[in-house]
Amino acid sequence: MLNIIPSPTMTTTADFIQVQGLCKSFEGQVLYDDFDLTLPQGQIISIFGPNGCGKSTLINLMSGLIPMDRGQITIAGKPLRRSRIGYVFQNYRETLFPWISALDNIAYPLRVQGVPPKERQRRVEQLLARFDIKLDLRRYPYQFSGGQQQLIAILRAVVAEPDVLFLDEPFSALDFEMTLYIREKLQEVHMESHLTTIVVSHDLEDAVYLADSILLLSKRPTRLVQQVSFALARPRTPETIVDPEFVRVKSQCLEIFREEMRR
Ligand SMILES: Nc1ncnc2c1ncn2[C@@H]1O[C@H](COP(=O)(O)OP(=O)(O)OP(=O)(O)O)[C@@H](O)[C@H]1O
Ligand SMILES: [Mg+2]
Repeated sequence: MLNIIPSPTMTTTADFIQVQGLCKSFEGQVLYDDFDLTLPQGQIISIFGPNGCGKSTLINLMSGLIPMDRGQITIAGKPLRRSRIGYVFQNYRETLFPWISALDNIAYPLRVQGVPPKERQRRVEQLLARFDIKLDLRRYPYQFSGGQQQLIAILRAVVAEPDVLFLDEPFSALDFEMTLYIREKLQEVHMESHLTTIVVSHDLEDAVYLADSILLLSKRPTRLVQQVSFALARPRTPETIVDPEFVRVKSQCLEIFREEMRR
């Protein structure tokens, strides 16, 4: 039998994302001080915590959008600059390019990579077919509903097959019907691709609904209060919110959150 000794950079699926000794302050205000986190591959992980505790900052750091003051973050044992990241910004309306079609918006990361136009179109059409999504790709962003625009932003984030998909408050600007639609599509993308997905949410129901686990963050300086598992089988459906296991996990998170707010 082969005896493989793991090298320091070798990761398993359990420690796919590793954050070690993370420090980050803004204008002298400490947000993260020696913060550690290990996240597995292939799951949907929600990040939940009080306003201003640093949820967006954490995914901005983990995706390499903003620099750390100190620490180390790796994805699959690789430094961030060698990882492929998909990111859906909170204000999705402002991040789609209004002057180009849905096709060109979704294909934008491929264009940056130098993929020729015909191949870009083929890959976008293939992506839509794979997730059973019907969109008129010739239309411009303003011609779509909010939910469809959010879907375009998600497709743009996954078209280049990232190692990790980050979403900052993906449901916050959507009405309930659109929230259901985007939840369903995100879940389909995940069930089909097993893409490691990190979702920030300030809504506890949204945070629990799609998650395999929920990270509960404290007030600043930010600590990981607890990581709560939610193992209910997929697909989760609108009825999930009355499932006893969903209700139990949501109550557990709420209790931990309340306890933390009392400190
Ligand atoms: N670029 C920046 N410059 C200065 N301060 C910042 C910057 N980015 C974030 N902060 C501060 O860091 C703290 C955490 O911000 P962050 O946006 O990460 O919180 P959040 O948990 O996402 O909050 P929310 O729930 O409001 O989205 C806040 O006090 C914020 O004002
Ligand atoms: Mg935020």
